[in-house]
Parts: sequence; structure tokens; C-alpha cells
Amino acid sequence: MRLEIDGAAVEADPRPGQCLRTLLREHGALSVKRGCDSGDCGACAVLLDGEPVHSCVVPAVRAEDRAVTTAAGLAPGDALHPVQDALANGFGFQCGFCTPGMSVTASCLGEEDLPDLDRRLKGSLCRCTGYRPIREAVRAAVLGPVRETGPDPGDGVGVSAVPEPAQRVVQGLEPYAFDDVPAGALILRVLGSPHPHARIRAIDAAAARAVPGVVAVYTHEDAPAARYSTARHEHRQDDPDDTRMLDDVVRHVGQRVAAVVAETAAAAERACALIRVDYEPLPAVFDPEEARTPGAPLVHPERTPEDRVADAGRNVVAALHAGYGGDVDAALAASPVTVSGTWRTGRSIHAQLETHGSVGWLDEEGRLVIRSSTQVPFLTRDELCTLFDLPRDRVRVYAPRVGGGFGGKQEMFTEDLVAFAVLRTGRPVAYEFTRAEQFWRSSMRHPMRVSVTLGAEPDGRLTAIKLDVLSDTGAYGNHAIGVLFHGCAESVTLYRAPVARVDAEAVYTNNVPSGAFRGYGLGQVTLGIESALDMLAERIGMDPFDIRRINAVREGDALRRADGEIEADLVWGSYGLDQCLDLAQAALAEPGEDPPAGWLVGEGMAAAMIATLAPRGHRAHATATLLPGGAFELRTGTAEFGNGTTTVQRQIAASVFGVGADRIRLAHADTDAVAFDTGAFASAGTTIAGKALHGACLALRDRIVEEAAARVGAPAAECAYGPDGVRTPAGVVPLAEIAGAGGLTASGEEHGELRSLAFNVHAVRVAVDPETGAVRILRNVHAADAGFVMNPAQCRGQIEGGVAQGIGGALYEEVVVADGRVQNPAFRTYRVPQSADIPDVEVLFATTSDDLGPFGAKSMSESPYNPVAPAIGNAIARALGARPFEQPFTRERVWRLAQGA
Ligand code: FES
Repeated sequence: MRLEIDGAAVEADPRPGQCLRTLLREHGALSVKRGCDSGDCGACAVLLDGEPVHSCVVPAVRAEDRAVTTAAGLAPGDALHPVQDALANGFGFQCGFCTPGMSVTASCLGEEDLPDLDRRLKGSLCRCTGYRPIREAVRAAVLGPVRETGPDPGDGVGVSAVPEPAQRVVQGLEPYAFDDVPAGALILRVLGSPHPHARIRAIDAAAARAVPGVVAVYTHEDAPAARYSTARHEHRQDDPDDTRMLDDVVRHVGQRVAAVVAETAAAAERACALIRVDYEPLPAVFDPEEARTPGAPLVHPERTPEDRVADAGRNVVAALHAGYGGDVDAALAASPVTVSGTWRTGRSIHAQLETHGSVGWLDEEGRLVIRSSTQVPFLTRDELCTLFDLPRDRVRVYAPRVGGGFGGKQEMFTEDLVAFAVLRTGRPVAYEFTRAEQFWRSSMRHPMRVSVTLGAEPDGRLTAIKLDVLSDTGAYGNHAIGVLFHGCAESVTLYRAPVARVDAEAVYTNNVPSGAFRGYGLGQVTLGIESALDMLAERIGMDPFDIRRINAVREGDALRRADGEIEADLVWGSYGLDQCLDLAQAALAEPGEDPPAGWLVGEGMAAAMIATLAPRGHRAHATATLLPGGAFELRTGTAEFGNGTTTVQRQIAASVFGVGADRIRLAHADTDAVAFDTGAFASAGTTIAGKALHGACLALRDRIVEEAAARVGAPAAECAYGPDGVRTPAGVVPLAEIAGAGGLTASGEEHGELRSLAFNVHAVRVAVDPETGAVRILRNVHAADAGFVMNPAQCRGQIEGGVAQGIGGALYEEVVVADGRVQNPAFRTYRVPQSADIPDVEVLFATTSDDLGPFGAKSMSESPYNPVAPAIGNAIARALGARPFEQPFTRERVWRLAQGA
């Protein structure tokens, strides 16, 4: 058939049942992204004869003799459509994976759509931005942008520099992992377990191997015996070795049973369907409390403390039983006031618009190359080397732009199988998760039961904190230990109680695995502690801001862990909680949206503290090079997935070298680029990689001056760096001359041995409909202590995105699992917030400058999530006079609460 793609005539021969999206991508229209396979997310939106459609649900044959317009063709040549221009220059994207489709949909909107904009954007999901900048971009495009005037602020730190790839992102021209797959790559597909717990007696893959186009079928008989963790950390010993690439025991529904590589996806999928597996079902356990009860089925009975599993005989992966200050029960008994409660948090999933996936091949030197959608290329490389016994210089892992991470891509979910298949076949191999596989085979936020008892004096001063936490890590312990310890750390350390006790355990069940997710456990535990503190404030009639003021740690306080040890690596680089409380309280007092008639109104707030880094080190190397032409090349290890790291890194270089962004090039997230980088997690992109780069840039500037001084025979102290050359007593030596033919390089490194603290305060006014349980946020305020703000618009975007995910987790999002089976593995049934669900949030910054971070900056990527759900829960409690204890606070749960049921 014939069709037109972005004005070019195309001959195509669609396969039976093929959708338009895959046909377009096969014909090079890579701006059309794959997000959900079911018409729910809009990442694949195109215009079909001028009408917007989701191309994943349009049969390819329907495009015959019709014109398709993608994001790359919305405007002629290199030009941008007005809405693309507004999105690019108004920080209307972060990871950018939704943005081409969003551009296409938004390009059809006019002034008449503005009053009902949320509904018009209903079919377009964005997981990163919180929608405010998208709504503003659409309005600007329709009504005409309001251009800022004034002097050019430059490209250095402290200004809202637009990300370098903005134009390519909005047009869909910035490549992601699956936008550059080697020709002839084999397609990998996985057969998943139908059982939550079973032993595999036998696998008959003969029929699968006989399918034309099938190259290989792999089972546990082929897989390495070694066990590892899918979780990736600086120290691989931080996670239990409980996972085998393909195992003869399956421990959750959806776990890999066999992998097929074939010439086509259709052949691989047909072969998967023909694999016959003889399972011996085993008893399964789904309730975490039951899992640690004597006699419960054991999920990993063979694992030992040497595998970093605390007590496999009780299904306990990690345990924390510690306290300080004496007997907590006695302290509570002696306290004039006590409050207590038990909160339960559900499973939520990252829902990055780009699913997990990787592509591998052997390069011309026979080195294994993996191109992956990962936050941790170096840690993935190192684990592949361990697993396949390869030297590090024989493996390269790199990440192009990543379509959303949020901690979920601090894992190795596809690269091990891809590497195995590449090494076995010698051919390129590609493995991309479907949206459903994300739910079966990736990871989710750990569901927790959090019990809190607080004791206090009548004036509100805390006398004791007692915390009891149970975390469900699911079938594998990836991140179980870190999430449990982190969750019970800063949430407790934030308050100065003289007596504290924590009893916390993370247990295996036969549920789908949990993992790292923005906040890393703090969100769940913070819900319990901040809600209990609100109960205490209510009980004694104290303002909730004030009760934090009198109880929270202050600058200079010793920071005690639950076991009473002083956290020696935590230092007061700065302190901004006091400012955050003042800013949020003042902003909450301002009027917001009016409540609908008959709805009940309440206000709530919560505070959160986070260390600016993960403990025990986070390493980064960086290099800066003066190129022969006088431009600068930066090399860093961190991945860009919308966190804005690469933009900040360019700004750091621009500040040090005094040049514009046009003279800065950046290579990043590639194990061939620099010596090592732990990765883009724990909000380390600015504080650690940025600091390493800052060091490299300063060292290079010194080298440039020394080089110029040597050339003219003058002391370096008499020479001064300038963006075009070094001023010496003998005249200006141009940078291009100093660079010579080979360029001039300096490097920097940072090990992150010390950590500072950042603070966030969220406050809301909500209206609750007692008749339906609906919750509407009338006023939405967030104050953040980010230290020196490197890029205000970008940092605001991180906060808005974190708050949006917090609202989603608080009110809507829950992966429903029954007997180990995910009941809603699709965006149609798993409720990622839409534009209408996320009101604008007023973001306020404390004015602090941190002693540790580069230029005084602190991290601010994951912490905005943590106080949102407790603030909303506290507001609902005050509106209804009844407190929600189960998150998410869905409409049904809130309605039951309102009805007193
Ligand atoms: Fe919208 Fe990442 S920018 S999904």
C-alpha cells in the first residue's frame, strides 16, 4: 500500500494485524514512541489526515492512501510548531518520552479548547512534569507566548538554562534505547510463570525450536548457576544474591521461565506459546505477616546470611531492631500524652513511559556492547562482567536518553539475558518490555505496614517514638535492605525524641518483586510518622507547623540513627527546614480554589528530611577537555532521564570557563567515557557527578593558565584565564593555541564520603465530597531546601514531578495483586494521574547554600515525593474528622471513612 509519512511518499506492506505505530517505526519514523500498546498513554500519537490518533490502536492498513504526520513533521524543515517551541523553551518536558506524542496532540488545540484543557489532554500521559508546564505551553502556543525581555542571563549556574537537546526532544529526534537497533537484530521474548511458586520438573522446547525463524530457546539448563541481585548499588553486597538468570524454581507469577531469540517478534512469541513446562506447584505465601510466621511456606529456604538474607527460615531478608535512650515502653507509659496508629501503603509502580529494555551486540573488536535504558551503566557493566566472567575492558554499557527512571532503572532486568543471548549467538539481540511485562517482571514500591506510637509532654515536646515496620519485598530482595533501612532512618532522625525504638523487617512473599522507587522507603514510613504527629498536634490543640518547629532537629544537633549511633558521615552542610516551614505556612494561608458546595474542607501538612546521598560512598569521575578549536568537551558517567543532570553539568562548565553552551559538548552515561560513575540514583547527579565535573573544570582552567604561562615564560600567577584566551604579560594566548593539536584534559573525581541534609515541607487544602469520597486539592504548596538552586526552572520541574507522583500515590495508584497475580497490568486499569488530577503546585525555595555541594547545591529529585501523601492524609482527616490509614486514599476508601463504615 501507499501512504505519506511527514510529506514523503512511502510504499509499505503491512503484516496481518500490524498496528500503525510499528509500521511507522519500521519505516524510520522513530519520533513515534511506544508507551503502552493499548491506546492509553498517547506517546505514539500522530495525525492521520490531520486528525490525532493513537497509532498503536490503529490498524496499519487504515493508513492506505492517507497522510501521516509525526512530531518530526509538524513544522517544515528544522522549524518547530508553536506548541513544540513552547514545550522546548518552557521546560515542558523532563525525560521527553511523552513529548513528541504530546506535541502532536497539543498541536490540534485552539483557543476554544483552553477552558477544557484537562479533558483535551486526557489521552496523553506524562509521568515526569506534573502537567503544569505542558498546560502553560499549550496556552502560550494558542494565545501567543509572553517573551521575557532583559539581558541574556548566560548559560552558567543559577539561571534557568534550557536543556541542550530540547529542540530534538520535542520533535522526537533525540534517540532512546530502541531508536537505534542494529539491522538484523534478533528479538528476545520471555515465557513467564503462571504460578506464584513452583518447581520446574521439565521443559519441552522442541516445538518452539522448530518454529521457522527461531534461533535459540534458553532455559535454566543453559543459564549460569550464579546468583545475584537485579538491584544495582555501589557495593554489590548491599543486596542479597537470590536471583538466577533463569531458575528451576519460580517464585512469582510472571517470573522468567524460558527465553526465545528469533528473527522476528512473531516467531519468538509463537515459540514461547509452544514451550511445554511441567510444573510442580509449591505452597505460596502472599501476606507478609503470615510469611514470617512459623510454618509459612519458605520462598528462599536455601539462602543464608552469607547471601545477605537475614533469616531465610522466617522469610526475613532484612531486619532492624534497635533503639536508644532506654526502655521505650516505659517512656511511653510515663508520657502524659500518647498517640498511635497503623498505616498501610499499597503497591505503586514507576510507570516510566519508556519501558525497560536493552539491545546488545559484539563490536568489531569482539567486545560486548549493551545499549540500555538504565540509570546505572557502570554498575550493570560490572555485574555482567561478574556473571559472564569477562574483564571490564571487554564490556561496554551505555545509555542514550532514558525515558523515565524514578529508581526503577537502578536494576538489571533485561541486560543479563540480552548479554547471554549475544554471547551465545554472536548476533545482535533486542529485548524490550511490553507495558504488561513492566507489571509482571520489573519492580514496584515496597508495600509497608507502619505502626507508630508517639509519647509527648502536654506542650507537645516528644518524649518517645516507637516504630514497627513490615515491608513486603515480594519474591526477590532487590533493594529490600536499603529501602527498609533508609525508610527508618531520616524519618526518625528528623525528630529529637529522647527515647526511640525501631523494629522493622522486610520479608519475602510470592508477590511480584518490590524495588527502588523515588523516596526509597521514606515515603511509606514518613506517612506513619507525619500522620501520628498530626494526631498529636490535634490532641493537644497545637498548630501542626509549630509541633514540627519544637521537635525537629536543628542545625548542629547530633544526628542519631535508630540504634543510637551518631551518623558520622552526616554533616550540617546547611539547614533550611525553618525556612521551609515558614514559607509553606504563609503560602497555605492564601486563598485557593473554592470548594464545591457541600464538600468538607481541611488543611494538612507534613515535613520530610533526606540525606543528600546514599550512605557509604557514591563515586563519580569526570573529565574536561579543551578541544583544538577552543570548545570544551565534558565526559561524565551519569545518565539523563529527565533529572536534568546533563543541563546542570553544562551550566557548571559554562560558569567555570565563562563560555556559552554553544562551546560545550558533553558525552555521558557510557562506560567508555570515564573511569567510573556509580550512577544516577539517590539524587547524586548534581551533588556527586556535578562536583566531580566542577573539580575537573577547575583543574583544566588551571592547566590552561599554566600552559599559557609556560609558552610565554611567565609565572602562572601573572596570567589570567579568559574565555577566549589567557592574558599574560606577553599578550593574550588564544585558547585554540593552548589546546594544541591533541587538546588539553583534566579530570576530577568525587567519592561522596560526607552527606548533607535537605528538607521538604508540603501543605494542602483539600475538599472532600462525603457523598462520593472524591478529594479535590484546592491549594497545593511545596517548600524545598535545595541549597543553591542551579537551574530554578528545572529544579521546580523536579519538585512538581515529585509532587505529582506523590498525589498519584496518595489518591489513585495501586497495583492490585490477588494470589500473586497482578489484576491491573495496564494503564487502562492502573491509574497514572492525568492532567485533570494534578493541580498546579506553588513551589517555594529556602535560601540556603550547602558547604558540601557544588556551588552550594543540594539534591532535589526524590525527596519532594515523601511529604505529599501524609499532608493529603492529614488534610482529609481534618476535613472528615476521621483519619485514613490505608494509602492510596481512594475514592472508595474515603467514602467509607466519610460514612463511618
Ligand atoms: Fe512526560 Fe517524561 S516528560 S513522561
